[in-house]
Amino acid sequence: MVNSVKIGKSDVLSGPLGLGTNKVGGHNLFDGLKDEDGAEVVKTALNDGISLLDTAFMYGLGKSEEIIGDVTQNFDRSKFVIASKAAQDPNNDLKPNNDPKFLTKSIDEALERLKTDYIDIFYIHFPDDHTPKAEAVDALAQAKKAGKIRAIGISNFTLDQIKEANADDQVDVVENHYSLLHRDAEKEVFPYLKANHISFVPYFPLASGLLTGKYHQNDAGKFSQFSTDEFSNIIASLARVKAIADKHQATIAQTILAWYIANPNIAVVIPGARLPEQVDSNAKALDVQLSQAEFNEIDQLF
Ligand SMILES: NC(=O)c1ccc[n+]([C@@H]2O[C@H](COP(=O)([O-])OP(=O)(O)OC[C@H]3O[C@@H](n4cnc5c(N)ncnc54)[C@H](OP(=O)(O)O)[C@@H]3O)[C@@H](O)[C@H]2O)c1
Repeated sequence: MVNSVKIGKSDVLSGPLGLGTNKVGGHNLFDGLKDEDGAEVVKTALNDGISLLDTAFMYGLGKSEEIIGDVTQNFDRSKFVIASKAAQDPNNDLKPNNDPKFLTKSIDEALERLKTDYIDIFYIHFPDDHTPKAEAVDALAQAKKAGKIRAIGISNFTLDQIKEANADDQVDVVENHYSLLHRDAEKEVFPYLKANHISFVPYFPLASGLLTGKYHQNDAGKFSQFSTDEFSNIIASLARVKAIADKHQATIAQTILAWYIANPNIAVVIPGARLPEQVDSNAKALDVQLSQAEFNEIDQLF
């Protein structure tokens, strides 16, 4: 995999497909996870040429970073990109804390858990309600100057908060909720990011598995955010995606991921995975080349 996507104004280059790791060690978020599966998920991703690992302190309160730190010792560090995040304060009920001192300490601790000299992208995971955004970002800018991180990210910031955080033009990348089923960012956030050379990484790209096509009409109850009618429409649209997928001998998930990869508003897509088989399958999205007509059809379906 050639690392060809430039992250914001930084010199970080990534491939267009990453791995979301909230199910790698994320015991505080999901039941029934096994650390061995998590380690295998990370190893599989790197062997498959997936070049960005998206983690956070919050995923297992450091466990995800530790597993990634262990597994990556056996890989060439120059060949993959690590993105991590902090804000949830373990000494204050995990409430967001953007105090510059807290963020600086969080970066130092993440470096230790990840067993690396630098983190390619570091995000402020959530805004807090009292720290001036530019001051919080400046803590990351200092860490960048010191060579501890290479690109500055923010996550879960509204457009106004993004603007405030980027007052000194230092933000390289925004990670926010976005999928074919959740497209709010298109209207105002994407144009601002484009005009300011800030990359975008969407989280929940598979809508927590719904966009893999593995759920059916009778699973509506598992996705209470959608009305019954909305859910029926999504299932019908996925049947149309399946027709496109079949032409490429691909799965629905691979086809949906290929749509994000082909989307110029998106820098890197980071589907999560519970199992190595899912990673192997998702990695094949890199081989699916959608025609412009297929891209447009999927765009219109949702
Ligand atoms: N910045 C933030 O605040 C924030 C918030 C949320 C997530 N994230 C990041 O974004 C990443 C992506 O979000 P996400 O993982 O929550 O959701 P997602 O990517 O929309 O869905 C991933 C889930 O779908 C299922 N899946 C994946 N590939 C599959 C396949 N080929 N076949 C069948 N099922 C498959 C797996 O769950 P099951 O096997 O359990 O069904 C997997 O955990 C996270 O891992 C995390 O790194 C960031």
